[in-house]
Amino acid sequence: VDILNKQVLLASWARGLPQASDFRFAEQVLSPCKQGHVIIKNHYLSVDPAQKGWMSKAQNYSNAALGEPMKALAVGEVIESSLPEYKAGDFVSGWFGWQQYAHVDADAIDRKINPATGPIQNAIGLLGIVGLTAYIALKDVINPRPGQTILVSTAAGGVGSIVGQLAKRWGCRVIGITGSDEKLGRCLNEFGYNAAFNYKKEGWQEALKAACPEGIDGYFDMAGGWISDGVVELLNARSVHVQVGTAAVASWDPTPQAPRRERLLLVKEITHQGFVIFNHASRFDEASRYLAQCLANKELVFREQVLDGLESAPQALESLYQGKNNGKILIRLT
Ligand SMILES: NC(=O)c1ccc[n+]([C@@H]2O[C@H](COP(=O)([O-])OP(=O)(O)OC[C@H]3O[C@@H](n4cnc5c(N)ncnc54)[C@H](OP(=O)(O)O)[C@@H]3O)[C@@H](O)[C@H]2O)c1
Repeated sequence: VDILNKQVLLASWARGLPQASDFRFAEQVLSPCKQGHVIIKNHYLSVDPAQKGWMSKAQNYSNAALGEPMKALAVGEVIESSLPEYKAGDFVSGWFGWQQYAHVDADAIDRKINPATGPIQNAIGLLGIVGLTAYIALKDVINPRPGQTILVSTAAGGVGSIVGQLAKRWGCRVIGITGSDEKLGRCLNEFGYNAAFNYKKEGWQEALKAACPEGIDGYFDMAGGWISDGVVELLNARSVHVQVGTAAVASWDPTPQAPRRERLLLVKEITHQGFVIFNHASRFDEASRYLAQCLANKELVFREQVLDGLESAPQALESLYQGKNNGKILIRLT
């Protein structure tokens, strides 16, 4: 019997923030497994802020394709394989898109997953780009030392919550910036932040300044835009500002104008460095081993928000850019 594959297609390039209406649903009969390919039944789909960049026409490190299933990471089970290294019943993670079934070649598969070691969705959550980004950008780029003050924006999110906990474990004083009092409470009570500030509250910059009498040594920045404009003056000489996301900038097309900070960088010899997790694959082993160990020892708190059904994916992405998510968003398919 034919298998119908429900898909979420990218219907139009995002203009500014992603809208659910940028997508449309389609159904296609799944074609037989081609030579060199495998067929995967997706169990969990990832919803990531990075998808905004992939679905924009502006220059980026990676792009989705119009009219195709939305580019996304996923975890699923191999149901048919023409590749010797994969067999039916294997669990794998990779670039399987927002659809029920993926018909892909080996390049789309990131890795095999052993379901005995824990929930399979960890491969696109704590042990996927979320946790890997937190660990590698913090350790390799900021390289925090005990006693230093580390600032984190989008502090309560998937990546931010892990950065906060890791920096604390590594002996730092950690300060968070986030978009609601509820998230602020989670930063303080669950994620180990020493202090946190809601950027939607009047006077947050002054309060942040008062909380950093010795300045900031490392800034793990996922907001950028006007939020960062308000804090870069607190950066210490020889501090490191790693740019991991730009959530506070709605659109890069055209490039927004901003206050000039070259003089500040020059005088204080501040390093401002970009970071793209996909360029750091050689570090994945160390990072995932460390994170898996913490997870096994229950030493890290990781919040997931699991939504059911393919239909919920477009709205989930839209809500991410309204700050409505409560941790890492996953779409569960049955
Ligand atoms: N460079 C890389 O390799 C890489 C890898 C993974 C993730 N990232 C980036 O890291 C960031 C966090 O990713 P995540 O998966 O952990 O997502 P997340 O932080 O759980 O969710 C995104 C958060 O962005 C904030 N936000 C949304 N709209 C905003 C706005 N208009 N202004 C300011 N903040 C806004 C919200 O937090 P608040 O309410 O706290 O503002 C929202 O919860 C994203 O920017 C993502 O693109 C980069």
